[in-house]
Amino acid sequence: MALVTLKQILDEAEKGGYGVGAFNVNNMEQIQGIFNAAQELESPLIIQASFNAVKYAGLKFLQALMKAAVETYPDVPVALHLDHGPDFDRCKTCIELGFTSVMIDGSLDYSSKEKKKPARSFEENVRVTKEVVDYAHSFGVSVEGELGTLGGVEDDAAAAKVMFTDPDQAVEFVKQTGVDCLAVAIGTSHGAYKFKEKPIIDIDRVKTIHSKIPEIPLVMHGSSSVPAELTDKLNNYIVVSKGKDDQGGPFIDFLGKKYFIDRDYSIAKDLVYDLFFKNRLKKTMGVPIESIQMGIMNGVRKINVDTDGRLMITTAVLDVLHAKPEKFDPRDYLTPARDAVYNMVKGKILAFGSAGHAKDYKPKTLAQMKKFYEST
Ligand code: G3H
Ligand code: 13P
Ligand code: ZN
Repeated sequence: MALVTLKQILDEAEKGGYGVGAFNVNNMEQIQGIFNAAQELESPLIIQASFNAVKYAGLKFLQALMKAAVETYPDVPVALHLDHGPDFDRCKTCIELGFTSVMIDGSLDYSSKEKKKPARSFEENVRVTKEVVDYAHSFGVSVEGELGTLGGVEDDAAAAKVMFTDPDQAVEFVKQTGVDCLAVAIGTSHGAYKFKEKPIIDIDRVKTIHSKIPEIPLVMHGSSSVPAELTDKLNNYIVVSKGKDDQGGPFIDFLGKKYFIDRDYSIAKDLVYDLFFKNRLKKTMGVPIESIQMGIMNGVRKINVDTDGRLMITTAVLDVLHAKPEKFDPRDYLTPARDAVYNMVKGKILAFGSAGHAKDYKPKTLAQMKKFYEST
């Protein structure tokens, strides 16, 4: 069994000069797809659950699924990680359940009821992060902290105001908290809507931060590429065109079939237009793989990917249901969904350079890591 800590995975990645994908999971198919890819490419792996994933699946279920994967794929060195841990208590619960790593996101005030969270002060971030570090390290568990804030629209980890990481504050933050790795804000954001036109990622900031704290692996959140072929495909499944028939009557083309609208139903027509003619996904761009690779060349070792997996799954499910609407066995569409995740993760592993590194090192146990922290 190759359960390892995030610290070991990232320290080894630093030695090898590559990045490791940290993939968000909510269910069995995602976990299997991701592990299948890592096993085939002999790559180390980080599997992470957000607290919304925990809300969805239940912590015990998620933990049991992850544990089953660790046992099923003994050759994949994997860290089980809590993504955006909002407070000490939830980090503690995950540590008790066997996570080998937690993120305490002290950058935002998660107790706020607002959808977009206010930022915490530097001092408050240091305080909560250090509290988690002291507790986690006493069990050998690794900790990721975050400095600066990321935007986003679809999840609960979005800041009311985006603030890029200040390099000098990063030095101070690491010194005062003792985190094992640091998430930095450099222009990426969570979810599908990252950039309208041109992606702008502040790689110079990564370089500066890395030059000041070279021993701390950096983490890039919001790193999905949001491929246009997927968003276009999803939009096309909703509505392809509207127009007039030969007699000039309006129709809606929905999933390839023309629906004619009776002129007497003009109010209903407006409703139908509103329902179907608004594209589900607006024009958007994600983080280009080349920008991530530039980040990796400058100290980024953990790359967080969630949205691309969601897009892959939904597209795969719609592919099946569109081609064969009579299918109702979930296995008929969840099998291609799992394969889609597998293909997506394979691509990322190759791009991040972690393929072939699974056997570079012997996994250290939590007890060994505990001793290490005691000696520092
Ligand atoms: O950090 C954000 C991740 O994409 C998790 O998203 O909170 O919707 O599970 P979620
Ligand atoms: P994406 O939304 O770009 O996939 O980012 C995921 C993430 O940062 C999880 O912490
Ligand atoms: Zn994130």
